[in-house]
Amino acid sequence: MKKINRTFPSTRLRRTRMQKFSRNLTSENLLTSNDLIWPVFIMDGQNKKKEIKSMPLIYRYSIDNIIPEIDRLVKIGLQAIALFPYIENNKKDQTGSLALDSDNLVCRCVKEIKKYFPELGIICDVALDPYTSHGHDGIIHNDKVNNDKTISILKKQALVQAEAGCDILAPSDMMDGRVSSIRKTLESNGFKDTLIMSYSAKYASCFYGPFRDAIQSSKLLKPINKKSYQMNPANSNEALYEVSMDISEGADMIIIKPGLPYLDIISKCKEEFKIPIFAYQVSGEYSMIMSAAKMGFLNLEDAILESLICFKRAGSDGIFSYFAPHVLEKMNKSR
Ligand code: PBG
Repeated sequence: MKKINRTFPSTRLRRTRMQKFSRNLTSENLLTSNDLIWPVFIMDGQNKKKEIKSMPLIYRYSIDNIIPEIDRLVKIGLQAIALFPYIENNKKDQTGSLALDSDNLVCRCVKEIKKYFPELGIICDVALDPYTSHGHDGIIHNDKVNNDKTISILKKQALVQAEAGCDILAPSDMMDGRVSSIRKTLESNGFKDTLIMSYSAKYASCFYGPFRDAIQSSKLLKPINKKSYQMNPANSNEALYEVSMDISEGADMIIIKPGLPYLDIISKCKEEFKIPIFAYQVSGEYSMIMSAAKMGFLNLEDAILESLICFKRAGSDGIFSYFAPHVLEKMNKSR
């Protein structure tokens, strides 16, 4: 930054902060409905809507019940959703084979949503954790999550989801080399325009706890430990390598996850690569804010908006947030 010699009282930085209009005019970042992605939990069955214990006011919906929710939200500016399936334990196995079934819950849901809302962006995770009986994102071989064997399954999962009509594939498994495998598979099967939004820097975080309840993967392996593939929270140089590799392997956009504790990573990646970056305000962050608000320790509305604008300030182009429906409704009311 060029140095200006600012001295008091010729400069009083508070002048622009004094009134609402000047605060608005000088605001460097803005949160709009174009910034929000809604992560949604889906389940089998008819007319189901089930609250997730560790995530107050967040539900798993059956496909028929998600359609009216989406209808309401698309009308007020929802751009994209990310689907996460809740799979019953008796349908899970060692290799997550349901992930490759073109008639599985996610594929049926994508088709149904596209039927009614062809313009809504649909994001599907590429990872096996909702489908494996051990809850890991990959397949286990000799007591380890095996990278290369997992990739050979993930690229098939990606293709099945692309065929169902998914717009954006989001590999969230953190295997090495999966983006290039998925990209090659898409190219050679005629899905040249399918986007890849890679969870490039995904940390081994305790903040995913409530999500694992939501998709029922937490109770399976005790304690579930993804440290051999998700990143060490102490590292940031490594995140730059992850991102650069994913971009060179064919990712169009990248995700940093979790969100608020990792704003420095968003900022560094934006600075270094100038690519579209998405933050994931994860389940644990949602539940922290909700429970503090429930206790009366902080104001819910203020906490939501402050957390989201901070993602923008750090350099995110958009944010996955469980608060997305709530915020869209608020934005719509204040219009
Ligand atoms: C799994 C996946 C996880 C999340 C999104 N995809 C959890 C995990 O890695 O165990 C977490 C999302 C959240 O906590 O909200 N592939």
